[in-house]
Amino acid sequence: MMKEKIHEQFQKHFGGSGDFYASAGRINLIGEHTDYNGGFVFPGAIDKGMMAEIRLNGTDRVRVCSVDLNDSAEFGFREEDAPSASWARYIFGVCMEIIKSRGPLLKGFDAAFAGDVPLGAGMSSSAALESTFAFALDDMLGLGIDKFELARIGQRTEHNYCGVKCGIMDQFASIFGKAGSLIRLDCRSLEYRYYPFHPHGYRLVLLDSAVKHELASSAYNRRRTSCETVVAAVKAAGHPWVEFLRDVRPEMLEEVRGKVSAEDYMRAEYVIEEIQRVIDVCDALERDDYGTVGAKMYETHHGMSRLYEVSCPELDFLNDLARECGVTGSRVMGGGFGGCTINLVKDNLYDEFIAKAVREYAARFGHEPKIYPVVISDGARKLE
Ligand code: GLA
Repeated sequence: MMKEKIHEQFQKHFGGSGDFYASAGRINLIGEHTDYNGGFVFPGAIDKGMMAEIRLNGTDRVRVCSVDLNDSAEFGFREEDAPSASWARYIFGVCMEIIKSRGPLLKGFDAAFAGDVPLGAGMSSSAALESTFAFALDDMLGLGIDKFELARIGQRTEHNYCGVKCGIMDQFASIFGKAGSLIRLDCRSLEYRYYPFHPHGYRLVLLDSAVKHELASSAYNRRRTSCETVVAAVKAAGHPWVEFLRDVRPEMLEEVRGKVSAEDYMRAEYVIEEIQRVIDVCDALERDDYGTVGAKMYETHHGMSRLYEVSCPELDFLNDLARECGVTGSRVMGGGFGGCTINLVKDNLYDEFIAKAVREYAARFGHEPKIYPVVISDGARKLE
């Protein structure tokens, strides 16, 4: 369906046909705001993402059409060619970062793209877009860029062209995703391991609050600055080797309590606890101990709501509701400030939980949450 829709627009704008590429949005079982602190994350790619039809056009310009937004853009490869539409800046950024990484090897192309990962729902639609184009351009031009660098190209696009100082999790999951497996990633070394995830007797489901807060990216960047401020204070307090909050033990944080703001202290406290929770969840999964996995998810929600302060009334409501229903684990997922909760639900509770959540959320906020059952899927790829 999506392929036909894209091809129709490709033909209309450019004529003929190109190659199809796709990449995925992501979920994250646990480990939020730990990536830019050198810690661990535990994401997986999902069955919702972005798809593009692309063909080199023999010029040094890019012509691209967003099927969903019914909008198009054209740009060259100089900084001053940056398009104004925010969706087009992701693609422009990927091109510029490829040039910075590989030299002026890029060639002009025509593309039409569409997606089914909801925008602003914390499922990384932007990473899916970056990964689709980074993967496609590398493949079509035979640039030989490894997957780690493809993920970094997407991350640097966010930093340098979209104003979000994000970590590596979203782009990594989108590029490295594998059907049926979560990825435990060490964001300092980029060592990773696939964990087949088939929780017998449970389901993962996202409840989308359909809330999207303005200024989320500046609030996100401020969280990152808080973390860096605490790292600097700990370094100055006699631990010069400390590079990230990952390296800070609770007693080291205690040493700087009077030297950083109460707010920065809370932010760091959350991150240090969250990094440990990822390790605990991986251990629990080895034992098929889903009770512990779920309990850690609730702890994450509490920390994100009270210490990191990236939740909102709608997400807290969905989390409370999950707890009341006896759902095994539930928490706000992704950067926060709106978007989804991720829920680990026993099979036999699933229908009852969803029905109650839809009913009670609508009664309280005037619209239903959207429900997305999680299917862990492949990341960036060429389609046949
Ligand atoms: C956003 C960022 C990621 C990560 C998460 C929070 O999705 O893009 O790098 O920091 O928030 O875990």
